[in-house]
Amino acid sequence: MKVFIVFLFCVVYAQAKVTPDYFPACKRSDPQIEKCVLNGLEAVKAHLKDGIPEVNIPALDPFTVPTLKLDRTAPNLRIKATVKHGKAYGGSDFKIEKLKLNLNNKYAAELKITLPKLMVVANYDVKGSRILALDINGKGRLRGNFTGITVVAKGFAKPVAKEGVDYLQVDKLVSKVKIGHAQIEIDESERPLAAQSAVTFFNASPNVILDILNPLIEETAAAVIKAFANKILGSIPISEVLVEDAA
Ligand SMILES: *[C@@H]1O[C@H](CO)[C@@H](O)[C@H](O)[C@H]1NC(C)=O
Repeated sequence: MKVFIVFLFCVVYAQAKVTPDYFPACKRSDPQIEKCVLNGLEAVKAHLKDGIPEVNIPALDPFTVPTLKLDRTAPNLRIKATVKHGKAYGGSDFKIEKLKLNLNNKYAAELKITLPKLMVVANYDVKGSRILALDINGKGRLRGNFTGITVVAKGFAKPVAKEGVDYLQVDKLVSKVKIGHAQIEIDESERPLAAQSAVTFFNASPNVILDILNPLIEETAAAVIKAFANKILGSIPISEVLVEDAA
């Protein structure tokens, strides 16, 4: 009977562990926990390109964004747009530059990454919008190359119990985004001439437009990163990656 119970416990435990073996397990009290988590992230990173089905991590390269709705008014900017079937290539080449953690009675993190290049394709539908004096209304498909990208994401997570198991979920996240250079092309189906002059303007001085769009880019990046992080964190029991000290 005793043996059977031990056996049962082992079976249940073996089934309960969902993360692949290369996932890190760091000690909460480790004075060098940032280093441990960084090493773990590097190990996981190698598998991110194609996704990690065991823990529901979607493929990062290409990274798919089914729908984004943008609606914003700011100086020099009025934009109302729907972006569909977005795909970004190159996301798995990110380099982690810095990680700061604070796990004293909370889960706070700051992550800085750089990305040499992101190639984006997406369908857009833009109405009632302008950037500076540029008419940017229309509908079609956009291709863009963005290079020299730096993203700093800063956020808090909270433990959330699901069927008796604790997972982390990001509560609040803000991001800072810098883009070194950009180049776009479009296939416009409704107003090709207006679109072509907007594209020509953009490509002649991308940083002028990117600066105006920056608050929108940062807000959108934060929403996309938060959704991606929560999808990952929602499949990883905290106890499998952050171990308490043995009593
Ligand atoms: C983006 O880069 C790719 C590969 O270097 C190139 O083929 C493509 O024409 C570029 N697209 C734009 C919009 O510049």
